[in-house]
Amino acid sequence: MATTSADREQWGSRLGFILAAAGSAIGLGNIWRFPYVTAENGGGAFVVVYLACIALICLPYLFAELALGRNSQKNPVGAIAAIKSGTPWVLVGGLCVLTGVCILSYYGVVAGWALGYIFKGFVAPGVDSAAYFGSFVSDAGTVIPLAAVFMVITILVVYGGVEEGIERWAKVLMPVLLVLMLVVIFRAVTLPGAGEGLEFYLNPDFSKIDGTVILAALGQAFFSLSLGMGAMITYGSYLPKRENLLVSGGYVALFDTAIALLAGLMIFPALFAMGKQPESGGPALIFQVLPEVFETMPLGSFISMVFFILLSIAALTSMVSLLEVVVSYFVDETTWSRSKSVLLVGGFTFLLGLPSALANGGSTFLTEQISLFGATGFFSIMDFIWGNISLALGALLISVFVGWVWGTGQAIEELQQGAGDTFTGAFASTWAVFLKYVCPVVIATILGGIVFGVI
Ligand code: PHE
Repeated sequence: MATTSADREQWGSRLGFILAAAGSAIGLGNIWRFPYVTAENGGGAFVVVYLACIALICLPYLFAELALGRNSQKNPVGAIAAIKSGTPWVLVGGLCVLTGVCILSYYGVVAGWALGYIFKGFVAPGVDSAAYFGSFVSDAGTVIPLAAVFMVITILVVYGGVEEGIERWAKVLMPVLLVLMLVVIFRAVTLPGAGEGLEFYLNPDFSKIDGTVILAALGQAFFSLSLGMGAMITYGSYLPKRENLLVSGGYVALFDTAIALLAGLMIFPALFAMGKQPESGGPALIFQVLPEVFETMPLGSFISMVFFILLSIAALTSMVSLLEVVVSYFVDETTWSRSKSVLLVGGFTFLLGLPSALANGGSTFLTEQISLFGATGFFSIMDFIWGNISLALGALLISVFVGWVWGTGQAIEELQQGAGDTFTGAFASTWAVFLKYVCPVVIATILGGIVFGVI
């Protein structure tokens, strides 16, 4: 092992940790995925179910990841080995690291699109923005260099180490993100016809809730909070014992949820103001529809640019956390230095992302001719396996591991450090029930839903 607990780096301040962890959670999941999943699942009613999932499933599970990380002061593999070494449970940590690499590989491709759309996101009047996006994503000579630029920036941030790199960047980037979003929202809600969008988004029609909507909301909540692949184990491992994990974790969930809700406020009023149907966008919603919406707005080219700068910033802080999980594994468990780990993992992940970059029109074979479990194209297959199945499986296994193997008694003791008297009695035992029973059962249901094609 290269580092001991004593010399392991730590976050410089509580605010630094909260901003960095919120930066991990807030990303393409909030701004690109949340609006289109909301649109496809009935608007306001979906938002209500999503909020319930965050509060009842994700929040209790988030505390488990943070407690496990801080207790062991390790990456996901080391954390599990510290409690149950030499057992197959260590493979769960391995699954986390593998999931991190694989999500990062295609996530970096979408981040590259966002980067490109800072300059290309404003289409001239009369141009079909769907066709325009199609030719943009299929041009390998554009999307591969963009993904490379994004990976280099991520490598540079992670290379800086915990305090110097991630924390310093997160402190600057997160408040900028919030301010930029408020500017776009102000523009969107003051458009004529915006009210209809607000109505769709904020006024729940509960008759739209069915099993599919509930499962979609649960899946989105997991992806959005960076849960199920050890990101919060790793970030928790850099926290000192005096830290109140419940308060810090609570803030992270609050910020992530707030940004997702704000993303909806940017998109739905504008969409309805332009007379578009909420279901029309799908995963391409922001890249295809918004530029066209911006085009007809006053200051449209500026708003478009601001929006995609914002999306790139959010994607960067999430990519940093994905890379950090993998790097912390190599730093803790092998003799590799931090710089060697960052360069090798970053470089390898970029190469692994190449087929994903080519799977949106660049290569006909990778785009159309391969399919697995109903997902067509290399990109969708990667997202299905690693973004859906693997996160749900990881979260299911980690909640069972913390709840039943490590034990809620130990976890509660860890959470009490920094939280003290506030985490005792009924509060602590209610949490234990959620972690041991509610989380595994519900997550198993999500996983079953994914496997059987309900989501
Ligand atoms: N939560 C991130 C987002 O919303 C994505 C992510 C998933 C990051 C899993 C880390 C781990 O974009």
